[in-house]
Order: sequence, then structure tokens, then C-alpha cells
Amino acid sequence: MKKKKQDYSHLEAHQPIGIFDSGVGGLTVAKEIKRRLPNERIIYFGDTKHLPYGEKSKEAIIGYCTKIAQFLLDKNCKAIVIACNSATANALKEVIALVDGRVPVIDVIHPVAEKIAFEIHTTVGVIATKATVASGIYRKSIRKHNKYIKVEELATPLLVPAIEEGLRNHPITHSIIYHYLSNKKLKDIETLILGCTHYPLLLEEIKQYYGTRVRIIDSPTIVANELAQVLEKNNLLNKEMPYYQFFVSDVTKNFEKISRKIFGNQIQLELQEL
Ligand code: DGL
Repeated sequence: MKKKKQDYSHLEAHQPIGIFDSGVGGLTVAKEIKRRLPNERIIYFGDTKHLPYGEKSKEAIIGYCTKIAQFLLDKNCKAIVIACNSATANALKEVIALVDGRVPVIDVIHPVAEKIAFEIHTTVGVIATKATVASGIYRKSIRKHNKYIKVEELATPLLVPAIEEGLRNHPITHSIIYHYLSNKKLKDIETLILGCTHYPLLLEEIKQYYGTRVRIIDSPTIVANELAQVLEKNNLLNKEMPYYQFFVSDVTKNFEKISRKIFGNQIQLELQEL
């Protein structure tokens, strides 16, 4: 997405960063943001009531995402991170329109596509939800920068439900991973993008399948670096104490477990209707 030069001088460094996803996936991005920017205050919204976004229509995804973006603006966030590929692929334009230049909006696809396009010269595989693959967004955004890269996108819709069911490191999930990664579309890839923020939660299992043969792109780190650069450029890096607040549209055991594992046992989930 073309970045317009914006004036963010009305924002203050102590304001929180708003991050959202359909569920636990965005926590993989939030975790990296916490590591890269340990003083930042974070408000996370997991739309657990409406997941999986990957199976929803564009209209439905736009409806959820614009409501969440408005909620995060009402919470006085100084930046919004769309920590969801399906949301980025289907609702980025609408979220940007709603935000209307008041705060920076960082998404999880464009910074990754740009970096890949300049670093990689081989065939890139992308595994993602149906809603992301149907949009063709990875192919378009990578090839916008480098038209010599071949991009193979594959929808892998069973992975999000398996993760949200807490089936990591489970034989069912191993079979699903094998089924998808052995697809002939991915036969010649040398690089793989995990085009869904849930998938880094299966990183070890995916690495086991490929060994050292395929490089797996660390999207959460790229996104956290992009956010850090935007905040730094606008003098918006917080110097005070951090805090973390979690809102969900439905309280689930899996969300509780994974968010506590990443952010500590003391965190409380707050139920928030959209
Ligand atoms: N984590 C999300 C993504 O990056 C959404 C998964 C889903 O809800 O289907 O696409």
C-alpha cells in the first residue's frame, strides 16, 4: 500500500498500540512487538466470536474489521496493527478509510511482500486461508516490486481450526500439515511465507516437514520492525511503563491459555461485544 506522508504530531508516545486478529493468531505478532518494543502499551482484540475469518465473505470481514478499528481508536490507540492476513487481504482499504490518517495502520502483508521482493529470487510459496488466497494479494504485492519471482499460493483452511482447537503437536495436525505441504503447487519452492498469523504457532511442525530445504519467512519480526520504524520516525516510542489489555468477543480456553503463555498469567481477558 502506498504510504502517504502523514502528520501524527497530535499523537503522544504513551498511547497504546492496538492490535487485532480473529483469534490467537495475532498473538504471534503481538509477541514479537512486545519483544522488539518492550515499553509499549498494547491493547489486543481477538474476534473469537467470528473466527475463522478465512471462511467469511469480504463484506463480513470488512464489517468486523471496521468495528474493531473504531473500538481501538476509541481506546485512544496511537497505531493500529492488523495482525491478520485475511483481514488485510479483504478490509485494509476500508480500515484505512475509517482511520482517515489519524493514526498509522500497519498490516501483515505489505511489509513482508516488499522485503521478500528485494531479497529473494526464487519460487516463493504462500500458505494462507481461503479468504487470503482468493484475493491473490501476496502474488500481486510481491510481483509489484519484482516481477521475476514466481509466487505459488495455497489455501490451507484446516490449520486455523486445528490451532484454535488446541491441537498443536497432535497427530491430526501433523497429517493436515503433511497433506497440504505435499501439494504439487509447493514442490519447487525454496521459500515459504506463513500467510496467516496463526501458522507460526505450528512453526516447529512445519520446519520438521521441510528440514533445511525451505527457508521460512519470519513475518512477525518483519511486521514488528516496520511498526518500530514508523513509531520512531514520528517520535512515538513510549518511555514509560508498558501494560497489556486483552479484549475478546468470546472467551475461549485456548485464547486464555496462549495469551497467558505469551504475556504472563496475570493477564485478564475482557469480554467485548462488537
Ligand atoms: N490469523 C488470521 C490470518 O492471518 C485469520 C485466520 C482466520 O480467522 O481464518 O489470516
